[in-house]
Amino acid sequence: MILTAALVVVACQSGGKVPVYLNPDKSLEERVSDALSRMTIEEKVAMTHAQSKFSSAGVPRLGIPELWHTDGPHGIRPEVLWDEWDQAGWTNDSCTAFPALINLAATWDRDLAYLYGDCIGQEARYRKKDILLGPGINMGRTPLNGRTFEYMGEDPFLAGQMVVPYVKGVQKNGVAACVKHFAVNNQETRRTATNSVVDDRTLYEIYLPAFKAAVVDGGAWAIMGSYNLWNGQFNCHNKRLLCDILKGEWGFDGVVISDWGGCRDDDEAVENGLDIEMGTWTNGLRGAASDSYQNYHLARPYLERLRNGRATEAGLNDKASRILRTIFRTSMAPDQHFGSFTSPEHFAAARKIAAEGIVLLKNNGTLPLRVPQDGKILVVGENAYKMMVVGGGSSNLKTKYEVIPLDALREAFAGKAEVIWERGYVGDVTTDYNRVLTGQDLRESRSAAKLKADAVAAAKDADCIIFIGGLNKSNFQDNEGTDRQDIVLPYGQNELIEALAELKRPMVVVNISGSPVSMPWAGKVDAIVQGWYGGSESGHALADVLTGVVNPSGKLPFTMPKSLADGPLKTERQFPGIREEGKEWWQEYYDEGVFIGYRWYDTKKIPVDFAFGHGLSYTTFELGKPKLSRSKVGEWKVSVLVRNTGKVAGAEVVQLYISDDEASVARPAKELKGFQKVYLEPGQSKKVEITFDKESLSFFDAEKHEWVAEAGEFHLLVGTASNRIAGEIPFTL
Ligand code: GLC
Repeated sequence: MILTAALVVVACQSGGKVPVYLNPDKSLEERVSDALSRMTIEEKVAMTHAQSKFSSAGVPRLGIPELWHTDGPHGIRPEVLWDEWDQAGWTNDSCTAFPALINLAATWDRDLAYLYGDCIGQEARYRKKDILLGPGINMGRTPLNGRTFEYMGEDPFLAGQMVVPYVKGVQKNGVAACVKHFAVNNQETRRTATNSVVDDRTLYEIYLPAFKAAVVDGGAWAIMGSYNLWNGQFNCHNKRLLCDILKGEWGFDGVVISDWGGCRDDDEAVENGLDIEMGTWTNGLRGAASDSYQNYHLARPYLERLRNGRATEAGLNDKASRILRTIFRTSMAPDQHFGSFTSPEHFAAARKIAAEGIVLLKNNGTLPLRVPQDGKILVVGENAYKMMVVGGGSSNLKTKYEVIPLDALREAFAGKAEVIWERGYVGDVTTDYNRVLTGQDLRESRSAAKLKADAVAAAKDADCIIFIGGLNKSNFQDNEGTDRQDIVLPYGQNELIEALAELKRPMVVVNISGSPVSMPWAGKVDAIVQGWYGGSESGHALADVLTGVVNPSGKLPFTMPKSLADGPLKTERQFPGIREEGKEWWQEYYDEGVFIGYRWYDTKKIPVDFAFGHGLSYTTFELGKPKLSRSKVGEWKVSVLVRNTGKVAGAEVVQLYISDDEASVARPAKELKGFQKVYLEPGQSKKVEITFDKESLSFFDAEKHEWVAEAGEFHLLVGTASNRIAGEIPFTL
């Protein structure tokens, strides 16, 4: 509609001939070069930086609309004022809150990643947003990272496989996915002042692959530079990262957008691959100099450089072309999209994804819950009640509704059992997040001791106890801008869980968090479930799993270590960084190299609470003997028969790890290089086939600057978790 109107208007102005840039039948590149040829230098410069908190200029004179950017990876952020962070107070921008991306990663289901991207892309389009500031895919180098919940775990292959369909799903709706935060931004502590020192092998093997997959396989139209520095340059204008690797090696033809406030230098902004400067003098969370847009690095200073010959028009044309390409891919796309918003289908998708990502960590048969008629279920824990869609930083959402676990359990057991609730402890009483209000009243007058005593007293005659605790996206507890300080459950939850377990009642612990927590009481409870921030339908998803409506099939996208000390980050210089003589910025050394997550724990043979890729089911599965065959030149195939040997339908995730028995460099004990989720009825068998190639066997040789698969012995490990290998195939290259 928009395009047609514009066509008519311009046709009248130009005497009937429709200009190429407005003609949907012309190729993208023809339209870009035609529009560019009609623009003045001032118009080109104007579009390279913000004009408001979340928009960058188009070309009003030519009828080319501005670009609207929106957070975030889990849903469409409520409208803020033009030049303020305050809510605009719209009454029609309450969105569908989809599960946190760590929850999506835990499904290990590529189809659900596509469904997720498609639904959130529809919501962005409906809200007339052209660039979705997500997904985030930074690697889980430390379990303390405050934004672990927004990312996709500790393995580059898993994140890469899950981000591609998400990007495709979003972009199918004429919305650009802006994959973030590029790159090696693996903590929140001093994120705008820390230089990540990472060797090339580690960079190419661990920190780039998911971004490369998003760009090369997913066709991402936008990338967000990160706040931190890598090897001495800020990543929003890091020449090596943006020009050499992203736009050079990977052939990226989209736009590089700075994180909000990530652009720090005039000359580097012009020369080093930044295309749109956003949020300068702010950090995307708090106030900023008002209406400072003409002072942006790519505003007046850029114009001056162009006029006095210190910047080339060719460089400006490259930026403007990329921006025009983004506009012609989104708001001016030939195939008009209109999206949809808070539809039943979106809430159903949110519920399905949330449930499919819930991980059953332990179960002695207590789950699915069976309670005698008119029995009594005691639910303990603040997270059974506290709304969690809000908070966490820029991914904060105003959602149409959020089903809390307590209500969903009461719904599920209506007419069957009484569900009572004891708060048990006080975590975070905030109910207002940047003026997004939950409407709950979390104030509490009882002391910690009283709260605990009340919970224990109520448990005495309960048929079962469901503890629902964890973290809550408040400061230091899974929140942008602050890292966690330990992986121990806060607010005295461990002591409370132990006290309840003493009562020897059937007891289930549900940990709702976006990052690993240690579970010293794991041996004392009957079942443990890793719930996530599941979005609008999180309560229903959890109740579906606890009652058996959904058979859990999630797998951990990160390791659950017994303690932080067991991890690979042993020194201040590794985390959270140190000051060094004569260096302006904090320095953070990735001394552990490629050995993060299970790559560390497995190789060092350190026992963990629950391993990467672990997840149980209410049914059982049997894997046959894996077989190897060649599928085509340079590609092999591992096939294995999977049978559902239990009584209920369920899904299993077959995982393929490679182990290089003899390498010229230190390599992890195993590395994930393939996986496939398979759904089976009771008694049903299916053959799962996973292909791999030479690159799957390779490590990155920094000297040669290429992937190298050394001849010699390997082992192919096939299993259902990194520590549950069902079969091994020796392999000689
Ligand atoms: C924030 C975040 C980024 C977000 C942006 C806009 O600081 O780092 O993920 O998209 O600013 O809010």
